[in-house]
Amino acid sequence: MTSYPVLDLTPDELLTTTRTVRKRLDTTREVPLELIRECLEVALQAPSGSNRQGWQWMVVTEPALRARIGDIYREEVEKYLASQASAAKQFVDDPDRGPVQRRIGNSVAWLGEHMGEVPVLVIPCIRGGVELPAGNQAGLWGSILPAAWSYSLAARARGLGTAWTTLHLSREAEVAELLGIPEGFHQAALLPTAYFTGETFKPAPREPLDSVLHVDRW
Ligand SMILES: Cc1cc2nc3c(=O)[nH]c(=O)nc-3n(C[C@H](O)[C@H](O)[C@H](O)COP(=O)(O)O)c2cc1C
Repeated sequence: MTSYPVLDLTPDELLTTTRTVRKRLDTTREVPLELIRECLEVALQAPSGSNRQGWQWMVVTEPALRARIGDIYREEVEKYLASQASAAKQFVDDPDRGPVQRRIGNSVAWLGEHMGEVPVLVIPCIRGGVELPAGNQAGLWGSILPAAWSYSLAARARGLGTAWTTLHLSREAEVAELLGIPEGFHQAALLPTAYFTGETFKPAPREPLDSVLHVDRW
């Protein structure tokens, strides 16, 4: 199946270096649609509830459409950055986590300004009725998020960067209308995709496993 070259990464290197790429997305370089299709072929191997495969994949390349989505995204980023929920406002007094959070805030702001210039925007969608189910939402989202993450991993393996974003979702209906996404399909994320600049990516600092691990009893 593979026709584009893949990077020489072990499975663990791939899993631990697939970062949220923002400032290093190369907005100047076109990405062939065939390469995106190849990443999506990988994504389709992900599990879904009852093997329903109720996903649909919206790939946006047309500049005017990207610009419109970029405008919506920018407005939502501005609201987010002004809110208490923003990354930069978390753990401000923590000497380890504070600077990391501020860096993320800065990077989120950059993507807010440039989303519409990223050459490919991928929106994974899942069929799920007009109203979201009251119970078992995990069943619905679990039938699209693993596939969307597989897409990001496949992209990373092929020298592309992606960013997992959701801030446009408060304007989901507007984006659905713009792109003709039918009623009953829910957008799970907005994944800007581009070649990345620079050499490679490193594992990120995370809270230690022992602070979140429970064996047999919480
Ligand atoms: C559910 C979810 C929603 C996110 N939404 C956004 C977003 O709208 N904009 C953004 O720039 N990053 C977003 N992120 C990316 C996180 O900020 C990022 O994963 C985190 O900073 C850790 O960085 P890393 O993925 O490079 O390890 C989101 C991540 C997740 C999992």
